[in-house]
Amino acid sequence: MDIELRNIHKRFGPVHANDAINASFRHGRIVGILGENGAGKSTLMKILSGFQPADEGNILIDGAVIAYDGPTAAIACGIGMLQQDPLDVGAFTVLENFIYGSGGGIALKRAQAEAQLEALSARFGFSLDAHQPIESLLIAQRQQLEIVRLLALGVQTLILDEPTTGISAEQKDILFNALRRLAHDEGLVVLLVSHKLEDVIDLCDEVVVLRGGRNVGAMAMPASGRGLTSAVIAETKRQLVTLMFGEALAAQSRPRFALGAPALAAEALVAQDQRLDMQPISLTARAGEVIGLAGLDGSGQELFMRACARLGRVASGSLEFDGRSSLKLSYRQLFRRGCIFAAAGRLEEGLIAGLTLSEHSALVADDKLQIDWKAVEKQTISRIERYRVKGRAGDAIEQLSGGNQQRLLISLLPDAPKLLILEQPTRGLDVDSARWIWTQLLARCQRGAAILFNSSDLEELVTYSDRIFVFYAGRAHEVPAVSSATIDELGHMIGGDF
Ligand SMILES: Nc1ncnc2c1ncn2[C@@H]1O[C@H](COP(=O)(O)OP(=O)(O)OP(=O)(O)O)[C@@H](O)[C@H]1O
Ligand SMILES: [Mg+2]
Repeated sequence: MDIELRNIHKRFGPVHANDAINASFRHGRIVGILGENGAGKSTLMKILSGFQPADEGNILIDGAVIAYDGPTAAIACGIGMLQQDPLDVGAFTVLENFIYGSGGGIALKRAQAEAQLEALSARFGFSLDAHQPIESLLIAQRQQLEIVRLLALGVQTLILDEPTTGISAEQKDILFNALRRLAHDEGLVVLLVSHKLEDVIDLCDEVVVLRGGRNVGAMAMPASGRGLTSAVIAETKRQLVTLMFGEALAAQSRPRFALGAPALAAEALVAQDQRLDMQPISLTARAGEVIGLAGLDGSGQELFMRACARLGRVASGSLEFDGRSSLKLSYRQLFRRGCIFAAAGRLEEGLIAGLTLSEHSALVADDKLQIDWKAVEKQTISRIERYRVKGRAGDAIEQLSGGNQQRLLISLLPDAPKLLILEQPTRGLDVDSARWIWTQLLARCQRGAAILFNSSDLEELVTYSDRIFVFYAGRAHEVPAVSSATIDELGHMIGGDF
């Protein structure tokens, strides 16, 4: 199937999210959809996959104009999409989810569906157990399930919006190999929205770049992503960044600050968890210091961070915040003393769907009993400006693009905290935004904050951390000398290879 988009327009109030977009995607090709936060990528992909209608313009499949009124109809036309933030699916098993939406009577098709699920799963090296409950799946497995479900429905175009956030290097390899096979051997169109330029260069045959809702250019990726030299990768990255932002970005180096007293001191701290056998961890974070935690999702870093913020249980050990034991304190009490935690799951924990930007500002204002809405709105507008959030004070949070939600979350952090505990602070941000956020964080660090953060982006860890701890199966190992820690070495360490 070949797809053509002609003159696609989409407006949200004053925002022209898609502005006269023309593009064509040929069968057998993997195409990257790039662009800064709020450029209109997800909007375009939602239009193509039937999740929202275009205001104007046409979608053509193999030269014929088609129209559909929802994702089910789009799938019937052969176009299916995996969502950027998949919402919860309820208490189903893998098999029930697989059958769901396939039309036929459930009882009748069960055995047949199970066989099909197993065959597809084996074909792509996926690890899906038909009888496992969905809620116990890793993000990567949910993706795998969604892919085989769409394939079983006969999809010929597969759209993935930020599929590599929150999955391990190994799982990414499995995913990318499956996508290569689907496009190059089976002739599907694969569209990949991503901010990770290395991934795009590795996987895609070509890219389309959006800026301010417009298609500002296309570029072929150098052939054979795998065997590329680092010089070719660096040069391709530079070209992509220039297309995305209109200019090349200067190399960023991290300033070092004088270190003060420990803001956080964990001594043989054991975070309590039912599933993971957490080991004692000792770690000190001093004022002005940035400590990075590496590790695949679920290796213990999240539990450790939450225990430090007193949001998770502690089995044994000691914990001090700002020179005093914090084991008996609640997060609320720590928060008032300057220990701030920001969660990764944007819409699940940090931000509240349905509330506007101003209402979020009001939530973090000092005196909550009497809200001065005029002042809150002024504050909100200044946050929007300082953090360059694309959105308005009265917008509901879910109207913002993914990256702009993350900017807002960071903008709500206080100006002079003692300790910031940040889960994946730049998840989903474009390269320029990620740097901007780090400038903001480092300014707090210079004013004396200690930062403890985790990231799945190894380059981010190496760039910004004074010290790095690698988590694996509930244990933490400090990387001996961070300045010489190469990204490659870290990649092996997070897989348990020390
Ligand atoms: N449902 C909506 N209501 C109002 N505005 C919206 C809605 N969806 C998107 N927008 C706006 O349209 C613009 C494009 O958003 P979109 O989500 O397509 O960006 P994106 O390129 O996917 O960004 P990101 O990289 O941050 O995910 C943004 O300014 C966004 O705030
Ligand atoms: Mg998006």
